[in-house]
Amino acid sequence: STQGEKTQGAHRILVASNRGPITYEVDENGSLKAKRGGGGLVSGLSAIGPEAGALWVCSALGDGDREAVRRGVGEDGVRMLDIDATVHTDAYNGIANSVLWFVHHMLYQTPLEPVFDAEFRRQWGSYKAYNRAFAEALAEEADQGAVVVVQDYHLTLVPGMLRELRPDLRIGHFSHTPWAPVDYFRMLPDDISEQVLRGMLGADRLGFLTHRWADAFTACADELVGGLGDTRVGVHGLGADADFLRRRSHEADVEERMAALREEIGEGRKTIVRVDRTELSKNIVRGLLAYRQLLDDLPSWRERVVHVAFAYPSRQDLAVYRDYTAEVQSLADDINSAYGTPGWTPVILHVKDDFARSLAAYRLADVALVNPIRDGMNLVAKEVPVVSDEGCALVLSREAGAYEELGEDAIVVNPYDVIGTARALHEALSMPPHERAERTKRLAAAATALPPAQWFLEQLHELEA
Ligand code: G6P
Repeated sequence: STQGEKTQGAHRILVASNRGPITYEVDENGSLKAKRGGGGLVSGLSAIGPEAGALWVCSALGDGDREAVRRGVGEDGVRMLDIDATVHTDAYNGIANSVLWFVHHMLYQTPLEPVFDAEFRRQWGSYKAYNRAFAEALAEEADQGAVVVVQDYHLTLVPGMLRELRPDLRIGHFSHTPWAPVDYFRMLPDDISEQVLRGMLGADRLGFLTHRWADAFTACADELVGGLGDTRVGVHGLGADADFLRRRSHEADVEERMAALREEIGEGRKTIVRVDRTELSKNIVRGLLAYRQLLDDLPSWRERVVHVAFAYPSRQDLAVYRDYTAEVQSLADDINSAYGTPGWTPVILHVKDDFARSLAAYRLADVALVNPIRDGMNLVAKEVPVVSDEGCALVLSREAGAYEELGEDAIVVNPYDVIGTARALHEALSMPPHERAERTKRLAAAATALPPAQWFLEQLHELEA
């Protein structure tokens, strides 16, 4: 069709997510600096670039992003929405991260109990406006019959809204989080849980990371809105990107950081590594308590082991996250002052995000500790075995999505059980080298069964079918 007749956009494949593949910062000279994000979604989608007619719709997140939108700076294949700052804060910090995230991870506890009051209702209005902004942008950009894949709990209303605007589209939604059991999910006010479910059921197909989360969603739909209707539900267990990780983890900056880490750890010591966003669901505090328990119960480990914990800043606009960050920091300090000796620092805690250093830690770890209370998947559990130099024992929470695929060769823990976790750490540290290497090989195979690009293509094929 000619320009003049065009009634809709030209994109054949669209992705929508709160956080996009790129962010901008304004530097001292006032010019914009672009920074590409990492993560499975970004690498998965780079397989299908703008040449294929793909468009990624995301939100401007900080001042740099907003400035980029205003100046018309951007990159091919990405459209950033400059959504009103209050609307975005309400939707992202208020509804998505303080309510939906807490429900799906079952994180509510005193003193953070759910109070669905007038303020919540106001924020819900923003969440709807925020979702509407995405639906309208997608409706505008999508070609006739295009495929749209909406990501995560930030955008649960988009499929329903988009379906109304553009019934010709094929719409998918993918959840990167767990889904709450129905008894927990219906803590939300009835009209809200119904809007969330009906919003998602506007999609042709819903994707989840594990069967457990898919079944929980289906149970919620059955119980609360009379079933799935015509919407299909599928499972796609996002895997690690082996090619990328193996290459990246042997670059010079990673080697440099390995040398520095070895220096910090000290000669002849075993290393327990964890890498997380400082996130309540990651259970970092109980991980430190378990490590302290290990040093208490088995003093022979003192001086012979170091816990390397990378806890990168996350969602610092939220007071509970700031408090949690402080708690992690102070517990690490307590352990160091209680047990440390002049030549031995029991906990090395780093909080500045550094991907190269994470890879360095993955390579030299003897034990990886992945003990979330609840986690959609947890890619750290999948990345470590892929890049490990000499094999690494994996202590894995049974509440992580990754447990469905990795449970057999991991040492599995109940994340609430500090004593049990301490015992698992001991078992992992004591694992004979050849067993460790064998298990790591099998873990790596399971972890890379569905690389990001294939994970995304699988969903596209299902939607086109
Ligand atoms: C989880 C969510 C993602 C989110 C990421 C980082 O993995 O499923 O959608 O992007 O956390 O959180 P943030 O709030 O920084 O985007």
